[in-house]
Amino acid sequence: MIYSIPMESFALVIFGITSNLAQIKLIPALYDMEEKNLLPADMTILGIARREMSDQTLKEYVHKVLHLENVHHQHEIKEDIFSKLCKRLKYLSGEIQDPALYKKLQNYLKHDNRIYYLATYPDLYHYIFENLQKYKLNLQNSGWVRLMIEKPIGSDLPSAKALNQLLLKYFTEDQIYRLDHYLGKETLQNILTFRFANDIFEPLVNKDFVDHIQITATEDFGIGRRGGYYDQVGSLKDVGQNHQLQMLAFATMDAPSRFTNEAVTKERIKILKSLVPMPNKVVFGQYEGYNKEPNVDSNSTTDTYYALKTFIKNDRFKDVPIYIRAGKKLKQYVTEISLVFKNPVNRLFKNLKSGDEPNILVYRIQPNEGVVLKILTKLPGHGVKLQPEYMQYCYRIDPHTHFVPDPYERLLVDTIRGDQTFFNDAQEVEAQWAFTDPLSKVRGKPIIYKVGSWGPKEADQLIEADGRKWLEPSMEFCRI
Ligand code: BG6
Repeated sequence: MIYSIPMESFALVIFGITSNLAQIKLIPALYDMEEKNLLPADMTILGIARREMSDQTLKEYVHKVLHLENVHHQHEIKEDIFSKLCKRLKYLSGEIQDPALYKKLQNYLKHDNRIYYLATYPDLYHYIFENLQKYKLNLQNSGWVRLMIEKPIGSDLPSAKALNQLLLKYFTEDQIYRLDHYLGKETLQNILTFRFANDIFEPLVNKDFVDHIQITATEDFGIGRRGGYYDQVGSLKDVGQNHQLQMLAFATMDAPSRFTNEAVTKERIKILKSLVPMPNKVVFGQYEGYNKEPNVDSNSTTDTYYALKTFIKNDRFKDVPIYIRAGKKLKQYVTEISLVFKNPVNRLFKNLKSGDEPNILVYRIQPNEGVVLKILTKLPGHGVKLQPEYMQYCYRIDPHTHFVPDPYERLLVDTIRGDQTFFNDAQEVEAQWAFTDPLSKVRGKPIIYKVGSWGPKEADQLIEADGRKWLEPSMEFCRI
């Protein structure tokens, strides 16, 4: 599919072009943008890393990266698109700490419009900011300058505040694009469209109709080679503090007054600020064998799983419990939000088999992406028998298309357009940490769980104590 979005030309400077992030996310996204004509004619990509490389070696490296087998980029790489992309590529080697690198950068940069993408370790950020300032490369004199920075922003509330303050020393808030790639997922953004472009569901999304909400993000794979990073972080901080809280915000926020960055972000923040941390309702787990993974401390107490209960302190969701869980090396790879509706006590068919099953609205983020409503229907035949079914909107109907853009592509395009709607602002990130910090503080030794299970049984007890159960995510809908 060819899109055409008018965009001004610019330079994209990637600090850490050889990083895992650049390989797995950025380079494939840039290829896709090239293919879809989303890059202006004389836009350049300047990769920075420590190792010595000629522009030619950089091209060979990018070629290799694009042909790596990774889940995000399984479609064909066309040589003509690749060579168009190569024409934009330039490489600069140097130490991030070394001012000489920025002097070279100053000479290289021909565009007034610039995006700096930080794909480096957070402890290097301050060198980058200081040196950009030293050479006036952060100033917006005759064009725009934007900074893209990945989650995690800090590792708790005080460090997030410190980083936000540091950022504001060198950039203004409208230059800072704090990226949580979940905000760039079509399946997440569509929650807003589904809720606010249709009027029939929204009146049901409140305490009168919703019994409880479940958010699940389980993966059937482990940490791979990311031990060095993951062991410092754990599941609550890796995906709970950010991706899952955003999922919750999208599913429960009030309608923004307009579809603008300010209005949408304001509503997300209102939800994040009204979440109630419940340190006595959180379970941490670790998969068997985790401490033998490369670059993981053999006595590590890092969580690879967590489950928690929370409430939203507002009138709309008063007393509606929310259960969230996430983890690695579990039974199934699935990310979804389920709104489980209340069952009226006098339901006509309640005595039939399945007659007491609740209606469930599922926002399936991945796989089998879709929005589905679990309903009961009549099993065709002479008697009255019920059968649970799904009313479904599905994204993927053809396994060979890749029309759902990758979140990195979506968010790069938004940055080029100067649209911060699907980026976190400083307050938002701080509200997220304010919720998770009290939970992190009670993390002791995690409970070991079996690889391929649904996590520790204590997580089942957490929800079963309320007379509810974790839903077994269905793979029956939106199958290709
Ligand atoms: C990343 C986490 O932010 O999100 C990973 O660091 C996690 O540990 C990933 O696997 C999940 O993202 P996605 O898009 O694959 O669901």
